[in-house]
Order: sequence, then C-alpha cells, then structure tokens
Amino acid sequence: MRTPLKLADAHPGPAFPVTLDGREIEALPGQTVAAALWAAGVTSWRTTRGEGRPRGVFCGIGVCFDCLVTVNDRPNQRACLVPLHPGDAIRTQEGTGHDD
Ligand code: FES
Repeated sequence: MRTPLKLADAHPGPAFPVTLDGREIEALPGQTVAAALWAAGVTSWRTTRGEGRPRGVFCGIGVCFDCLVTVNDRPNQRACLVPLHPGDAIRTQEGTGHDD
C-alpha cells in the first residue's frame, strides 16, 4: 500500500502514545494532531457552532480553521499545525470549545 511514509522513504523514530477522548492512539515524532488522527482512522473531531456539523481537515495548511481541536485542555488549536508530544491529550470539540 502506498502511504506518505513510503512515498517519502521516511524513517521516523518510534511511535508514542497520545489520547483522543481518553482512547489511546499512536503518534510518530513530528506528526501533527491531524496526521495522527487520520492515521487512526478519525476524519472529523469537532462540530460547528451553528448546526453541529462535523469538521476535520479542509486546507491542511493552517488557513481555514476548520480543524480546531482541544489539546491538553487548550481549545481551538489547529490540528493541522500542532505537533504532538508523548502523553498529549486530544479532545474532540463542540461549538466554540469553551463552556458557553
Ligand atoms: S485544516 Fe485548515 S487550518 Fe487546519
């Protein structure tokens, strides 16, 4: 199967655990939140404020803000830009990401 890792002939370091809503998933060194979620089969991780529609990556380069997610209790982080570290806790986000 052709994957970005194989196409780039990349050899990242060993995977490490992070969590998504308490469920453990793996991330690779240098991987963004969005990349790790995609690798885990997750394609949407927030809902819109108005109609609660699912959102994930749209632009993938930090421009559209569709990929907002909560990382280590900090809401509204752009998943396509934020690199993961061992033990990071990712949470899906509803609306503004705040308790309002
Ligand atoms: S996907 Fe557009 S800002 Fe992250």
